[in-house]
Amino acid sequence: MSIHPLPPPKEPTGLGRLPVARWFLLVAILAGLIFAAGVATVMTMTAKTAELNPRPEVAAQVDRLIVALVVVFVLLLGCGAGLVVIVRYAVLKPIDQLTDQVRAVAAGDFDRDLHVDRPAELAELSSHIDSMRGRILSAWRVANDQAEELRRSNGELEQFAYVASHDLQEPLRKVASFTQMLEQRYGSQLDERAKQYIAYAVDGAKRMQLLINDLLDFSRVGRVTGERTVTEPGAALDRALDNLSATIEDTGATVTRDELPAVMGNHLQLTQLFQNLIENAVKFRSEEPPRVHIGVRRDGDMWEFSCSDNGIGVEPKYADRIFLIFQRLHARDVYPGTGIGLALCRKIVEYHGGQLWLDGEDTEPGGHGATFRWTLPAAGDGR
Ligand SMILES: Nc1ncnc2c1ncn2[C@@H]1O[C@H](COP(=O)(O)OP(=O)(O)O)[C@@H](O)[C@H]1O
Ligand SMILES: [Mg+2]
Repeated sequence: MSIHPLPPPKEPTGLGRLPVARWFLLVAILAGLIFAAGVATVMTMTAKTAELNPRPEVAAQVDRLIVALVVVFVLLLGCGAGLVVIVRYAVLKPIDQLTDQVRAVAAGDFDRDLHVDRPAELAELSSHIDSMRGRILSAWRVANDQAEELRRSNGELEQFAYVASHDLQEPLRKVASFTQMLEQRYGSQLDERAKQYIAYAVDGAKRMQLLINDLLDFSRVGRVTGERTVTEPGAALDRALDNLSATIEDTGATVTRDELPAVMGNHLQLTQLFQNLIENAVKFRSEEPPRVHIGVRRDGDMWEFSCSDNGIGVEPKYADRIFLIFQRLHARDVYPGTGIGLALCRKIVEYHGGQLWLDGEDTEPGGHGATFRWTLPAAGDGR
């Protein structure tokens, strides 16, 4: 298992650039020099005193002084050597040991225990770092397991949606065609009410067909036809407008656009995205003829697209709800639809690594119109 590769350690600055061991060496050399200078000074002073031919009691005192000084110097030398050993084995070595252990963990060996048993301060530090490692590791493992479980159940759900909608098509076709045949063949023998019931059944079957087709599209995103390459969204938009040409002509809608830059995307899915958004913009129109504009602006590594219209708009409190599958704000007889369109759009955009949302602020004066925004990864154009 591995988390992301770790960045290289930060370079120390100023006096921190010198490792601690070097500082100790510097101080030790300085102390050694002072010590040697002290010994030399004392020796010259005693030699000079001896040249003055002092009285015997004074000479005896000087001899005792020399002995005392020798003892002090030897003790000092012993202390210095002891300090070197202590620093080396009680500080520098454990620091090295801990650094090695931390480096191994940082390099990806997350199961490695961190432990040094002396000195007390480093032992405490290592035990804190180790418990931090343990806690992060177990939280990460839980998150990993959950992500894995989520991926699995998502895959299962997609598979289920696909199989269910695919297998439902056949019996549905049967229901629709036999009800229609019933009407054609026995229409003359049926009264008005029976004909009305048949019309309801045919209408129900058609609606179910629409739902199933939309569900199939929804479950296909990311499962099939998912390849992403450098794509011209302009071409996907042309295709979508082509598919919507009858609706656009009937409603007298005008669709304008900025110059659309290349993105990393899937042509078919981007066509579905434009088609659903423009279809909504035209369907949820106000009294005026629909005007739709596809805009674009740069946002870091992404392009932020927008689709704005002059239609009936969406109340901000529904800004999240409309993206849920089957969620609609209007009765079916006023505005027909399955409520899958925006859920499909969001799935497509998220599959591309972007985000899709309703812009609550950018509506036309009087609260009319809706603007949807979404991001798509730029196609490495170096801008
Ligand atoms: N451009 C728009 N203007 C106003 N309302 C919209 C617009 N686009 C979507 N909506 C609202 O969001 C709901 C969900 O949209 P969608 O998922 O495409 O379903 P459908 O188009 O089948 O109703 C719509 O029923 C509508 O209430
Ligand atoms: Mg729709």
